[in-house]
Amino acid sequence: MEPIKNYPRLQTRVDMDVIRAETGAEEIYRMGYNESPLGPSPRVVAAIRMAASGIGYYPPMGDDRLRNVMADTYGRGLTADHFYTSLSGYEAIEMAARTYLRPGDEMIICHPTFGVYSKIAALQGATTVDVPLTVPDFLPDVDTILRAINEKTRAILLCNPNNPTGTMMGSADFDRLVDNLPEDILLIADDVYSHFVTDPDYPDVIKHILAGKNIVRIQTFSKAYGLAGLRLGFAIAKPEIANAIGGIQRGFHQNRLNLSAGVAALLDQDHLRANVKMALDGKHYIYKQLDRLDVGYIPSQTNFLIVKFERPVDSLVQALYSKGILVKPQPLPGTPHALRVSTTVPAGNEAFIAGVEAWLSDGQ
Ligand SMILES: Cc1ncc(COP(=O)(O)O)c(C=O)c1O
Repeated sequence: MEPIKNYPRLQTRVDMDVIRAETGAEEIYRMGYNESPLGPSPRVVAAIRMAASGIGYYPPMGDDRLRNVMADTYGRGLTADHFYTSLSGYEAIEMAARTYLRPGDEMIICHPTFGVYSKIAALQGATTVDVPLTVPDFLPDVDTILRAINEKTRAILLCNPNNPTGTMMGSADFDRLVDNLPEDILLIADDVYSHFVTDPDYPDVIKHILAGKNIVRIQTFSKAYGLAGLRLGFAIAKPEIANAIGGIQRGFHQNRLNLSAGVAALLDQDHLRANVKMALDGKHYIYKQLDRLDVGYIPSQTNFLIVKFERPVDSLVQALYSKGILVKPQPLPGTPHALRVSTTVPAGNEAFIAGVEAWLSDGQ
């Protein structure tokens, strides 16, 4: 029997025990996944422990308690009705697509960007239209996006700051895009890296949501909250949209561990700030060392950065792997020999730089 969708099954790609056995490295530094190496707040771990004894019972049917804490955390007049929760930021995007994308619709995306957007559209029978980022700045071009809109366009999905480039669209461009969007188009702002942004020109997306614009702002607990293994995400939108998307949740959508962990994480903003600080300190250390080594990079508004080399990086990836350092090759237009490097603990950042330095002097 022919399935109507056909995608390959996903496999375990990073098994830490296998890597330890293969490399003999005592420490494995995961610099390929844009995680926060401090991990969860101790208050989150305690909350999960407490909740664990209750998992024989179904969780509350809805997520309103968690959404109320979200509203308190974000302030600015946002209410629980401005939020919906999801099992990851990825699912927050999927839920928006499931609520608003119809077969035959088009969704505009800007490559190079997060690789899953086309699959999300395709699962709804929609297609993606690529309006590539400008090169070498790797920024969305608002005029080209606006020109690409036609009667089939239903959504625009923008990642800001963008994965994998780490680049950020500024507020003038964002405001101009929002102000010129037709009424029946949804702008999905994938802002999962927003907590790491230091550029004061970062667009104020919530301002537009409060003004009633058709925007869904994606957030996650995977990045700055250090809870990637939990799979908990959420999004912010005007109540009409957040309630519509939240309404497609099944009953008991969020499990007990997620509901408790989410509240505890939101209530420990100091821990979030510690995660962000570690990422920013690590990034500045890496910048400085790359400057010393005369290696290029793209300044980033996230917890990762693109490092640019003059020759193929396969042997570098391998050399780093043999030391237990995991990084991702990330070829970009005009920059074929690049790595995407997530910041990690200081010892890992130092080990990465030592590995690069050894590879450069090797000349292989
Ligand atoms: C741009 C972007 N959006 C969404 C996600 C999904 O995050 P999660 O599903 O872990 O919340 C990621 C994860 O790497 C990402 O880079």
